[in-house]
Amino acid sequence: MDEKTIHIPVLKNEVVSYLNCRRGKVYVDGTVGGGGHAQAILEASSPDGFLIGLDVDTEALAQAEKALAPYEGRYELKKGNYAQMGTILKALGQEKVDGIILDLGMSSLQLAVPERGFSFLHTGPLDMRMDKSSSLTAAQIVNRWSQKRLMDIIKQYGEEKWAGRIAKHIVNVRTKHLIQTTTQLAEVIAQAIPRRYWPRSIHPATRTFQALRIAVNQELENLKSFLNQALNLLLSQGRLVIISFHSLEDRLVKTAFKQWAKEGKAQLLTKKPIQPSEEEVKFNPRARSAKLRAIECI
Ligand SMILES: C[S@@+](CC[C@H](N)C(=O)[O-])C[C@H]1O[C@@H](n2cnc3c(N)ncnc32)[C@H](O)[C@@H]1O
Repeated sequence: MDEKTIHIPVLKNEVVSYLNCRRGKVYVDGTVGGGGHAQAILEASSPDGFLIGLDVDTEALAQAEKALAPYEGRYELKKGNYAQMGTILKALGQEKVDGIILDLGMSSLQLAVPERGFSFLHTGPLDMRMDKSSSLTAAQIVNRWSQKRLMDIIKQYGEEKWAGRIAKHIVNVRTKHLIQTTTQLAEVIAQAIPRRYWPRSIHPATRTFQALRIAVNQELENLKSFLNQALNLLLSQGRLVIISFHSLEDRLVKTAFKQWAKEGKAQLLTKKPIQPSEEEVKFNPRARSAKLRAIECI
């Protein structure tokens, strides 16, 4: 495993501190990934804090299992969508918990494997499913959805101002041949944007790939469903910490947290989002756009 396939947990110390990790408490990591945050939570809640870890990706769960092995008996890992956290916790006989963490987006493990189709830098199938048992892939969206629907998601989920031209070019190309791989699609996107308008600091395909990933994995719908039930899953003084990586997610989190504070149901622990230090970003560039927000349930 090289450096890039190791997922470095973002804002790890801040997660532990905002979750107020204590012995004997129960925590849920709704996006357990490689288990980096989970490990830190178990360490900080030693000797008997308990962690329930969820992920839709079975490969991530296998990694987490390895990372958490030293804490045997203090955790349970489950394949599941955090959008169904209420139902999952009930089935585990655990209706309310002391803290929940969501670390949204994809992991370095997912990005590093070309076959998963998340990266425009490596040739792989246009897949992008975090949950391999779900049916919708990026290839289906790219090759089957109407030009209008493509434009709408690229604009809305990618916040891409060239969405119209990109959608039109995708449709033109796919009438000649199917767009099958990540690098083929990246090239089609780059061709659609006049070269002088290519973004300086990111690849021209970055925003469209983000849009496709959000659509394939229904990321915003999942976050909304979770936010609708989150307060019912926390004990009094229970904490919720969410790390988001783009403005669409952060906006949903910020709006929900503010509303709960206004209704007197929760106390905001972060008036402004917590962002990684320059030092952390240098060490872990993936942390660049992370924003952490936290509340305490009243
Ligand atoms: C950024 S990674 C988490 C990394 C983890 N915090 C760590 O320190 O290793 C996000 C993880 O969330 C998972 N994921 C994304 N959407 C999910 C959902 N709706 N339910 C459960 N897991 C999800 C992804 O498969 C990925 O493994």
